[in-house]
This record gives sequence, structure tokens and C-alpha cells, in this order.
Amino acid sequence: MQFPRPAAFRSKFQLVLSCKSRPSSSPTHLASVLQARLGQPRKMSTVSFRLSKSIESTSLPPIPQAYEWSEAYKATPGRPLLDMSQGVPGIPPPQSLLDALAAASSDPGSCGYVPNAGEPSLRDAVVQEMKVAYGPDTDVTRNDVSITAGCNLAFSAVAMTVAGRGDEVVLPVPWYFNHEMTLTMLGIKPVWLRTFPEDGFQPSVSECAKLITPATRAIVLVTPNNPTGAIYEPGLIHSFAALAYENKLPLIIDETYRDFIVGGPPHHLFSSGHVPQLPQSWNWRQTLIHLFSFSKSYCIPGHRLGLVVSSPSISPALNTALDNTQICAPRPAQRALAPLLPSLRPFVRGCALAVQARHILFKDSLPKRWHIGSQGAYYAFVRHPFKGLDASDVCKRLAQEIGVICLPAGFFGPRQGGKAEGEMGRWIRFSVANVDDEKVKKVCERLGECETAFGWELDE
Ligand SMILES: Cc1ncc(COP(=O)(O)O)c(C=O)c1O
Repeated sequence: MQFPRPAAFRSKFQLVLSCKSRPSSSPTHLASVLQARLGQPRKMSTVSFRLSKSIESTSLPPIPQAYEWSEAYKATPGRPLLDMSQGVPGIPPPQSLLDALAAASSDPGSCGYVPNAGEPSLRDAVVQEMKVAYGPDTDVTRNDVSITAGCNLAFSAVAMTVAGRGDEVVLPVPWYFNHEMTLTMLGIKPVWLRTFPEDGFQPSVSECAKLITPATRAIVLVTPNNPTGAIYEPGLIHSFAALAYENKLPLIIDETYRDFIVGGPPHHLFSSGHVPQLPQSWNWRQTLIHLFSFSKSYCIPGHRLGLVVSSPSISPALNTALDNTQICAPRPAQRALAPLLPSLRPFVRGCALAVQARHILFKDSLPKRWHIGSQGAYYAFVRHPFKGLDASDVCKRLAQEIGVICLPAGFFGPRQGGKAEGEMGRWIRFSVANVDDEKVKKVCERLGECETAFGWELDE
């Protein structure tokens, strides 16, 4: 999840550590620690009840930590704070969409509920967009599509539908932190499928096969990936689908950043024809659960729209999860978008090309000791040059002293004592989508400056 920059945010992250180190904390102690850490007014009363064990065992959202670091930076007009932390669109949606959102919001027809799966007009429009994204032989119909209040909710609803307390779900590491947090919150064990820089952070099908146990309920992929930016080749995605199919498991594939792939289709799993790497009997509805977000492609994260594409045979179960979490997704945005999607294709494509050009600029401008391990869609995953230091220490000083906000790999994977494990500690996520070209160049200049300013030992 992404956050606007909260001036008053205090260290919720530290709060978790301190709460976890006090398993016998009384509820009132917990609440007063919360107050103190969040900087809330002292007169606010404490609560007399305990929080749920599930929520207590779930990490707090990490991004506020990065913003807290940046509070120490003294920005000037000549040296502003440069934010490459958030995965948020850097531009507003087109005027036609803003106008349609305004009109739909003030239309009494938008005020009621709509069935769990959403506005039929938007579900039909999505089918057409999927034919553009995946090819004209895409075998998806309105009945396969459920509209959700954002893709995070799509993931939660799907997780609730396919797994329960004590079950296991395979999750590539580094992970998108809301996936790990959601699974933990639901009592589902995330099983780590590690990815490595030498493989360009692409997950291994054979390693994944070794992680499957009788408790496994799903395999998750995110492509293009958050946080690494790695875009998985269609063949790799097909092989994961084959593995899931053989093991009678769902492959949950979060394609929030799909439209930022500027080459060919992301994969051919929806094709009505034969798909390489897959058995002749392949029918995506038996195995695949696809997730998508309208937040990035259409620059409307605040309007909360995402979707699930899955077999209608799981609709009763999925609708149960959706009914209890959202009833329906926000209706004005659904009604506004439905007729506009085809006309927004040039805008979506233009954004993808601009972000791709910015990736090239970032790569060309980065000081030579900073190495890109993978990049694509919104993100670049970069190895910092400081010997023996965890990226959290580096990101902290970058935010505090040179005014660059970016996120350490420890926010996206297993941590020990607040640090990322082993080699992962060298990696930093930069979001190239939410800044303009000038800012990208300035960030790279400041990364060069800090090599001497920090006084730390550098790689050769
Ligand atoms: C991989 C991934 N999935 C889902 C989301 C959340 O999307 P939404 O705004 O639709 O909930 C994000 C947002 O950063 C993301 O990176």
C-alpha cells in the first residue's frame, strides 16, 4: 500500500519491534506505546482491550519509516527532497477521466450497491482490454471478471478463498510487502521462494517445486515485479503454470504493472490456442487466478479499483470473501471508466513509454559503483556500493543527509534484527515512475556525492 507523506508519522516500525519484544505487554501499555510512537495527543484515552494476535504478528506498513528518516532533511528551494520511494503515478489521469469521475460521482445512479463482481459494463470493457494486452484469441468473458476495491483487496479476497489458517502459500522473495502481511494476518504461512541477483531476480520453477508440501494451497507470482522490477519471460510464467497445474494448485499472478511492459504480451496463458510449456489439456480456468489494478495504468490509486480474473466455478466462494470485505467496489469509478477504457489506450501506452525512457536515463546517470540488478515497470533494484552495510543504514542517511528517499530491501523480505538477510542487505528499491526526468538526474548526482560525503568504505 502507498501513503501520502504524513508529517506527523512517528516510528510505527520501531513500535512493532518494541511490542514484539514485550510479549506480556498489557493492553494499556501497548496503547500508550502506540500513542507515544504515533505522536498522538496525550489526552487521547487508552483502550481496555487487547489487539488480535493475528494483527500483532503482522509487520506494520514499512513506508512511514522511510518518511520518518526524511524529516531530518533540511530541504531548500535549490535542494528539494527527492522521493523515489513510492510506487505511485507521478501524473494525474487524463482530463476525460477526471470529468467522467466527477460526473459519475454526482449521479444518483452511482449511489447504490452493485453485485459483488461489479458493474457489467466495466467487466465487459475489461474483457476487451485483455484482448489488447494478451492477444485477440484471449478466452476471457464477463463471467470470469470480478471488480474489487483495489488489487490489494483482490489479493486478500483470493487468499481467503483458497487458503486458511495453517495452510502454506509460496511467495517469491523479495516480496511485495502487502502480500506477506496479508497472508500472515490471515494465519497463512508464506513459504519463501528466494530469487537472486545473478538470476536477475527471476524465480526458479525447480526451486518452487521443492517447496510444495501437502499444506501448500497456492503459488504467487508478481510480474512485472514489485520490488525488483524484474519482468518474467512468458516461457517462465508458462512453466510456473504447468507446475501449478500438475500439483492441482492455483497460480495467483499479480499483474498490477502489466501495462508497463512495452514489448509483446506478458504471457499466453489466456490463449484459446496451444500454449508452449503447457499440456494439451491446459485450460487457464483450472489453474490461473489473475489480479490487476487500475491504480497504476490509469493513475487513479485513490479511487480503489482492481480486479480478479478466475473461473466462474469459484465465484460463490470468491463472492463470499468479496461480500464480507467490500460488498462491491466503488461504483462511480466503475461507471466512469467502463465507456472510456478504449479511448485511454494511447494514454496508458504513452505512460509506459515515458517510464521506460526514464529507466534508461536512470541507468545511464547512475554512478558506476551503483549496480542495477533488475529494472522494469515502476522499479529499479540497485546494489549500493558501501562495504558491509545494510541498505537500511544507507537509505536512512540518504534520506536524512542528502534528501533522497528510497526503500531498503529489508522492507521487502525476511529481516533479522531489523536488517535484511545476508546479500539482500545490499539492495535498494528506487521507483522511477513517480518522479520526472530532471529529478532522476538529480537523484543520481546526489548518489555520487554521498560516496565521499558519507565516509564509508566503498566497493572497488
Ligand atoms: C504488486 C502490487 N499489487 C497490488 C498493489 C496495490 O494495488 P491497488 O492500489 O489496486 O490496491 C500494488 C501497489 O503498489 C503492487 O505493487
